[in-house]
Amino acid sequence: MTQIAHDRLLIIDFGSQVTQLIARRLRELNVYCEIHPFNKVDDAFLASFAPKAVIFSGGPASVFADGAPMPPGAVFGMGVPILGICYGQQVMMHCLGGKVERGHGTAEFGRAYVTPTAAVDPILTGWFDTDDGMGGREQVWMSHGDHVSQIAPGFEVLGTSPNAPFAITADRSRHFYAVQFHPEVHHTPKGAKLYENFVRLAGFKGDWTMGAYREEAIRKIREQVGSEKVICGLSGGVDSSVAAVLIHEAIGDQLTCVFVDHGLLRLGEAEQVVSMFRDTYNIPLIHADESDLFLGALEGVSDPEVKRKTIGRLFIDVFDKHAKSVGGAKFLAQGTLYPDVIESVSFSGGPSVTIKSHHNVGGLPEKMGMKLVEPLRELFKDEVRALGRELGLPPAFIGRHPFPGPGLAIRCPGEITREKLDILRRADAVYIDQIRKHGLYDDIWQAFAAILPMKTVGVMGDGRTYDYALALRAVTSVDGMTADYYPFSHDFLGETATRIINEVQGVNRVFYDCTSKPPGTIELE
Ligand code: XMP
Repeated sequence: MTQIAHDRLLIIDFGSQVTQLIARRLRELNVYCEIHPFNKVDDAFLASFAPKAVIFSGGPASVFADGAPMPPGAVFGMGVPILGICYGQQVMMHCLGGKVERGHGTAEFGRAYVTPTAAVDPILTGWFDTDDGMGGREQVWMSHGDHVSQIAPGFEVLGTSPNAPFAITADRSRHFYAVQFHPEVHHTPKGAKLYENFVRLAGFKGDWTMGAYREEAIRKIREQVGSEKVICGLSGGVDSSVAAVLIHEAIGDQLTCVFVDHGLLRLGEAEQVVSMFRDTYNIPLIHADESDLFLGALEGVSDPEVKRKTIGRLFIDVFDKHAKSVGGAKFLAQGTLYPDVIESVSFSGGPSVTIKSHHNVGGLPEKMGMKLVEPLRELFKDEVRALGRELGLPPAFIGRHPFPGPGLAIRCPGEITREKLDILRRADAVYIDQIRKHGLYDDIWQAFAAILPMKTVGVMGDGRTYDYALALRAVTSVDGMTADYYPFSHDFLGETATRIINEVQGVNRVFYDCTSKPPGTIELE
């Protein structure tokens, strides 16, 4: 287990989609925490982890289900503060002698308002102000079917909502707190304050910083890798670049980067990446032009999951080949981020639904006999950027919009052809140029063009055209987990559509995608 000099908080994961957001809120408070799945946390683990406080996450299960996830028995006797969230509250009450009931019309999903039922406790400092326009109540985000119907002995109610009479409960003497809502999500505006109060009550000093993360990550990489060789897949995006620079700092020339040009990159991208890594960072780099291999395998494929899996499989084959060429690399490094993980498998092995098979997640086939080094696996995008700044990467590079591993393949719904990719590349370059010229690049989290699987009729000059339609996408986001479309002005959209159609042969129509995430995803596939 990790040995850390900082105070440690343990998050016991019961499988919620948003467990990692709890960790994020804590890191914002400079608190070191680790997430471990409930089925890996037993009494012995607790004793060796020695947390200063524990949080029980939410989760999809019901305490009534056979084999319902439970915390280890010893946790309540450790004398440390505990905070239970949603399922975490229910399981806490269940274990400590309270009662949980099935929904029966009392389920709550989405926004709810909590009002205080007792004098404001220190866990709620900053809540229920009467002068903030909320009339002494607070907005929270609920998502529960079951609910607590009787609190455990020693607990009292601090806040209530119309469908959750025990929305906020506390056993003040033991510092056990339990809430029915999710304070970690943005839709609970004062949720961060609740975590701040909790860690303050638990005595955390707030000494966990990105500098500390860097040192710790370097130490872990050295420990994991020893004197073995590592190859790192560079995609040209910020994540794999930050991972490469971090690993290079840890193990120097034991690292070789492999930049796979799958023929699905943006205009001029391969040249930029190769020059930055070879010339600026002096990191050994193999530039593998494998576009024929990838595009050949993708010919005629239009199913999004088949595309992703094909690309993932070929990446692994190509890495395998190059790992052998650098003389037996034992490790493969990847810039996998937390959002990649949560949408592919549950971060900590618990139950979580698959939305997309991200090409860089899921482990390596046995045949490769390589182990993964993924130093960014617990970080969100903006935290990776902070780490990149910490490592001294150029600000313009760190500020680049994310680019997915499967590249333009997932921006080309339907069949992929070289002709479509070529049109897409040129249109995307015009779109990004427009965004930069209007000074909007840094306000947008990610922007790109996608080529649609349809042709439409147009008229140019005095002639008929029958050309491709493009979709433009631009979103704001904090971490890629949720996103909203960017509200361009009509003038900007009109000017951009005109430029693209004038400058890129093969396009005669441009749409703007106004879908948020959810219900959409950021990429089209
Ligand atoms: P979605 O489309 O899932 O995208 O809303 C969220 C963020 O992840 C990026 N993305 C990927 N990144 N491998 C990656 O490295 C992938 O397979 C992948 N799929 C999506 C996407 O560009 C967005 O920033």
